Amino acid sequence: MPLTTLKCSHIQEDLHKMGGAHHGLLRCASPACLHLAFFLLLAVEPGLTAGLTRRYTFNVTMATVTRLCLTKSIPTVNGQFPGPKISVREGDRLVVNVHNNINNNVTFHWHGVRQLRSGWADGPAYITQCPIRPGQSYVYSFRIVGQRGTLWWHAHFSWLRATLHGPMVILPPLGVPYPFPKPYREVPLMLGEWFNADPEAVIKQALQTGGGPNVSDAYTFNGFPGPTYNCSAKSTYKLKVKPGRTYMLRLINAALNDELFFAVANHTLTVVQADASYVKPFTANTLVISPGQTMDVLLTAAASTSSSAFAIAVAPYTNTVGTFDNTTAIAVLEYSPQRPSMLRNLPAPSLPLYNDTNAVTNFSSKFRSLDNARYPAQVPMTVDRHFFFTVGLGADPCQSPINGTCQGPNNTRFAASINNVSFIMPKTSLLQAHYQRMYKGVLMANFPTAPVRKFNYTGTPPNNTFVTHGTRVVPLAFNTTVEVVLQDTSIQGAESHPLHLHGYDFYVVGTGFGNYDANNDTAKYNLVDPVKRNTISVPTAGWVAIRFIADNPGVWIMHCHLDVHLSWGLSMAWLVNDGPLPNQKLPPPPADIPKCS
Ligand code: C2O
Repeated sequence: MPLTTLKCSHIQEDLHKMGGAHHGLLRCASPACLHLAFFLLLAVEPGLTAGLTRRYTFNVTMATVTRLCLTKSIPTVNGQFPGPKISVREGDRLVVNVHNNINNNVTFHWHGVRQLRSGWADGPAYITQCPIRPGQSYVYSFRIVGQRGTLWWHAHFSWLRATLHGPMVILPPLGVPYPFPKPYREVPLMLGEWFNADPEAVIKQALQTGGGPNVSDAYTFNGFPGPTYNCSAKSTYKLKVKPGRTYMLRLINAALNDELFFAVANHTLTVVQADASYVKPFTANTLVISPGQTMDVLLTAAASTSSSAFAIAVAPYTNTVGTFDNTTAIAVLEYSPQRPSMLRNLPAPSLPLYNDTNAVTNFSSKFRSLDNARYPAQVPMTVDRHFFFTVGLGADPCQSPINGTCQGPNNTRFAASINNVSFIMPKTSLLQAHYQRMYKGVLMANFPTAPVRKFNYTGTPPNNTFVTHGTRVVPLAFNTTVEVVLQDTSIQGAESHPLHLHGYDFYVVGTGFGNYDANNDTAKYNLVDPVKRNTISVPTAGWVAIRFIADNPGVWIMHCHLDVHLSWGLSMAWLVNDGPLPNQKLPPPPADIPKCS
């Protein structure tokens, strides 16, 4: 049997026999043999195991839920809110059959999944597919390669992800342990944002008026707002724990528009994973998690405690000059059962102030790749192409052709951009256009590699803050090593932007405040064990540098994961061309891929 068809578990059994019994040709008495054994393990995992196929059906339906004293109908998957948990192992194929039974277009994105040569399954509407129309179906099929930990799935059409989201748990291959002691229990914990209004109406209104959208009414834990909100004490998420046991929280920030502080009263957290890559474990009392990001954290329940329950709290981190949902949500870490009336007086953690950037910087600076023999950091040491992108807000003049009023700053309309280009959603899928090499009228391959107009990005903003518009992409040759410096601007107020790249994980090689200075800042890069992520916050009035190798052909959107900024155009796309070899080419689209017209 060729190695490629063996499953990891078989290899391990074989290795076990080889090491334990003194028969056969191979005995691991020598270091060289142990070396070979280790190599065999590496060689069959993760890319080469056959893996299993895991099938899910997503029926998108309206369902009635009650939150904050309000009963309403929301889009759900299979009637569940949040949606169902997907569980796979690294190396598995995932097949999700989506049926759209609501009166709205929809698509699904598997946030953080690399989608190696499976771009047709990535999901962002008008980028890799056209929307699944009411009554239509589409099957997403892709493999999970070289990733393990927590990711998530969400709708990628307008603001539908407010209620259409769920966790994705990627276990290591069978028999491969975690690089930390196995927790007693693992619990997905999705942080979300609840709107009493219909989120689709909220963004529609904002795009009409040109002003900022109405803010959410509550933050939620696995869909539950908890006792700090109107008539919600019975709608509280409870995590039951046993003294002395260790729990792994699989945290996901699924909020639409808010970065969040997270803490548990009287308990220290140990971060072990971020965005489906292991990190060097570190402890923290308060976490910061941006929309799109995931984090696995260990929490050990105390052997004896001063209280029979403790508050788990989230509250926003923001520097916006606009309005935001400045509420705190609470869930319960429960050592023994609590009545709803008891929940308001639990010991609570003290969270930083909403604009405490120092707290955020301290926390963010602790992330390092695990970088051991089994999970080495593979940081690109040289760069083929350098990009410098400003990210931030801007404006459209009131007389712009868009219909609507001008309730943005100084009688303008809000916009957002990268290098002053505000992304226009095309009418057809960019990936389809690319596959057919029919770019005309769909996209332009001239996205600026650096700002056309230079200014003091984090200083006093220029007088003219108007953006340009376009569906412009950066074409990349296959296997190009890319560095992107993402620079925040102070236009309409500096604030941090969680930038998410589809189709890739990237290494975060440097970060700082003020304007990036290539001459000084490059020397301070961490090229040894930088964290690998799919979503990174550009610090407020600062910059972050990322590196990745363009080894995945397709069209990949990179955007701010604050949905309001995405709606305003804070987005661009990379067009990664095929390589010369057959296994470096984008396969044809699945037959059932939704068409645009
Ligand atoms: Cu989680 Cu393009 O998004």
